[in-house]
Amino acid sequence: MRYALIGCGRISFHHIQAAKNNNLEIAAICDTDPKRMEEKQPLLGHVNKYTDYREMLCKEMPALVAIATESGKHAEIAIDCIRAGCHVIIEKPIALSIKDADQIISLSEEKGVFVCVNHQNRFNKSIQYTYRALKEGRFGRMLHGSALIYWNRNEDYYKQAPWRGTWEQDGGALMNQCIHNIDLLCWLMGSEAEEVFAYTDNLKHPFIEAEDFGAALVKFRNGAYGVIEGTTNVYPKNLEESLYVFGESATVKVGGKSVNEIIEWNFADGLDDADDIKRIFSETVPNVYGYGHTPLYGDMIEAIRKGRQPLVNGREGKRALELILAIYQSASQGVPVKLPLLSGSAVDFKGRFENE
Ligand SMILES: NC(=O)c1ccc[n+]([C@@H]2O[C@H](COP(=O)([O-])OP(=O)(O)OC[C@H]3O[C@@H](n4cnc5c(N)ncnc54)[C@H](O)[C@@H]3O)[C@@H](O)[C@H]2O)c1
Repeated sequence: MRYALIGCGRISFHHIQAAKNNNLEIAAICDTDPKRMEEKQPLLGHVNKYTDYREMLCKEMPALVAIATESGKHAEIAIDCIRAGCHVIIEKPIALSIKDADQIISLSEEKGVFVCVNHQNRFNKSIQYTYRALKEGRFGRMLHGSALIYWNRNEDYYKQAPWRGTWEQDGGALMNQCIHNIDLLCWLMGSEAEEVFAYTDNLKHPFIEAEDFGAALVKFRNGAYGVIEGTTNVYPKNLEESLYVFGESATVKVGGKSVNEIIEWNFADGLDDADDIKRIFSETVPNVYGYGHTPLYGDMIEAIRKGRQPLVNGREGKRALELILAIYQSASQGVPVKLPLLSGSAVDFKGRFENE
């Protein structure tokens, strides 16, 4: 399957590796900055390079394109790729507004191509096994879940790429760093969010526009509750990304650097041995990105071949974006916000933390 990558920055290594691990034919890469493409050359061997992705789409006609540019550019590029008849893997978040996410979803359906949003942690062994237990009904009635993200992002990280932390191209800690765990919370509570109340703030990052702290309470349609606590302020380095899931007859904690280790596995049904499960379904990962890109690509490739939806399709990818925009709305207005949202965009919050 002919594949092309648009955006050759920090996360692109994981895309190239995932494409190689899945034996995709890497036809071309594209970046507006040729230096970023040169850096990837040793990984790739011969590959065509473009600074204009539209020209690349025209000349290379890839079947599958991955988009790993600034978040604020995902929508425009994805829409051009879909119009060109390509299936797309879009780095998270799918887009920065409800309108853009909806357009990506509806256009892909119209064109008969698949969209996959890069929430790779869904493919962590720990998370896959927890989801299986949920589907088998082993949790009983869902009660509550917590998504905790205690990370550090310092000034150097933002200096490397000035788009980070801006409302137009990124959003803050919730939209960029915490979105994976927010996606998992929604997925593993087995329900849609109905209402949210939140606080967000910029406590320690005067050099970015958006939030570096967020705390939210979520009410799900199935009667369960969610707690989200996310920050990039933790001194001096990343501490943990953990997810707790509490059902009437089960308690699971998945923790580690980025929800890769099963820490607690307590089920009333006694169907499996907790120590075995912790050992078999935990992974030690070299960094917070983990090993999920390769199986996510594998799932998308199989989806295309079999004509079924990928696990994290456009609608699935929209869910975390929508909840984060609702959190932003609640925090800025000081009131609970109901979902689904009819509209909303990260740029609506421009100026929110100015003069604080
Ligand atoms: N899944 C994950 O765990 C994860 C981790 C990090 C980043 N991300 C996401 O990946 C995306 C990229 O993040 P990054 O940290 O790699 O950013 P980055 O700034 O390091 O890289 C982005 C690259 O895109 C290029 N680019 C911009 N506009 C372009 C265009 N029109 N055509 C071609 N190339 C273009 C830039 O020149 C740059 O090299 C963001 O959306 C981010 O949220 C995801």
